[in-house]
Amino acid sequence: MNSSIVLLPGDGIGPEIVEQARLVLLKVAERFGHTFDFSSHQIGGIAIDETGDPLPQPTIDACRNAAAILLGAVGGPKWDDPSAKTRPEAGLLKIRKELGLFANLRPIKLFDELADASPLRADIVKGTDILFFRELTGGIYFGESGTSGSGEEETAFQSMTYSVSEVKRIVRMAAQAARGRSNRLTSVDKANVLEPSRLWRRVAAEVMANEFADVQYDVVLVDSMAMHLINRPSEFDVVVTGNMFGDILTDEASMLPGSLGMLPSASLGDGGPGLYEPIHGSAPDIAGKSVANPLATILAAAMMLRHSLGLTEEAEAIEKAVAGVITDGLRTPDLARGDQSKSVSTEEMGAAVVAKLAS
Ligand code: NAI
Ligand code: MG
Repeated sequence: MNSSIVLLPGDGIGPEIVEQARLVLLKVAERFGHTFDFSSHQIGGIAIDETGDPLPQPTIDACRNAAAILLGAVGGPKWDDPSAKTRPEAGLLKIRKELGLFANLRPIKLFDELADASPLRADIVKGTDILFFRELTGGIYFGESGTSGSGEEETAFQSMTYSVSEVKRIVRMAAQAARGRSNRLTSVDKANVLEPSRLWRRVAAEVMANEFADVQYDVVLVDSMAMHLINRPSEFDVVVTGNMFGDILTDEASMLPGSLGMLPSASLGDGGPGLYEPIHGSAPDIAGKSVANPLATILAAAMMLRHSLGLTEEAEAIEKAVAGVITDGLRTPDLARGDQSKSVSTEEMGAAVVAKLAS
């Protein structure tokens, strides 16, 4: 088995949180008798500082040969100069493209003990556990675009395109994941208005009928979905949708748990290495202070074990350990809600997860 894991700590709090995830993975290796082969490489602002390139060639080469990649975050005020030739984010966009990562997975799971942090009433959000599959390399963000005319007649357009093969591969991936959960899949589109959505709906229905007849399947229009996420988020399991709808719905859904510090994500392609990261950014305001919440990155490491290394039991062990420390009342400052006296540091939170894995 290829067990080479590339770490891309990046900028800001990236190095602090990736280190805690690495320690958790080391504990998993010890407990389950695996060897993970870690190597650390540069991306983002730090890579610009040291090489002039946000994604240096050695990083690309290492990523291509890895089983999986664990990323912290990139960016920060130091590299925000609008006149700069390269920006840290360019490194992230490029690695996704280089690896053909067409599916973005975003689990939105609420830990019941943290329900008070949600902007919604606890009785509405409790039990929320959704896995989004957002198509990442097609659709309107990559469609033909242009402008014409001038003055009041100046016009701009951007076209939305989806092909049968693009729809099939993401629907298959999502349906497969549904089988490993509660066997329910919801596809979100705008088939009452958009031609690519009509193709999406037809192809998705065919895939589900022909290959996943055992999976309970339904379709929802994107505008309805925006309402359902606020009204009854706990009723959804796996959700699959196109690039733009997924961008908007996953950002909406990421607010449900009330803390960015708990949410991981994954980007997957066909067979090659997957990229795993927290959804939050490099949090320059708290970098170097040992207060960052490492749990999103630790949960991203669990996703990595499940989706890229086939280690389901190990992934579940990490998720159980994270749930355990939350139940025990451990809180980094972002979760502590006013009662900062009892909050723990980044390192203490990581160590608590490691300790749970040992018990
Ligand atoms: P951010 O997610 O870095 O921070 C937003 C707020 O959440 C801040 O107050 C921060 O302290 C807090 N926060 C974020 N993660 C946390 C954690 N693990 N524990 C505790 N608190 C946490 O978003 P922001 O401030 O808009 O962007 C900061 C930098 O990160 C920018 O340069 C931006 O471009 C970059 N960024 C990078 C991303 C990536 O690498 N995937 C994604 C989003 C932003
Ligand atoms: Mg977005």
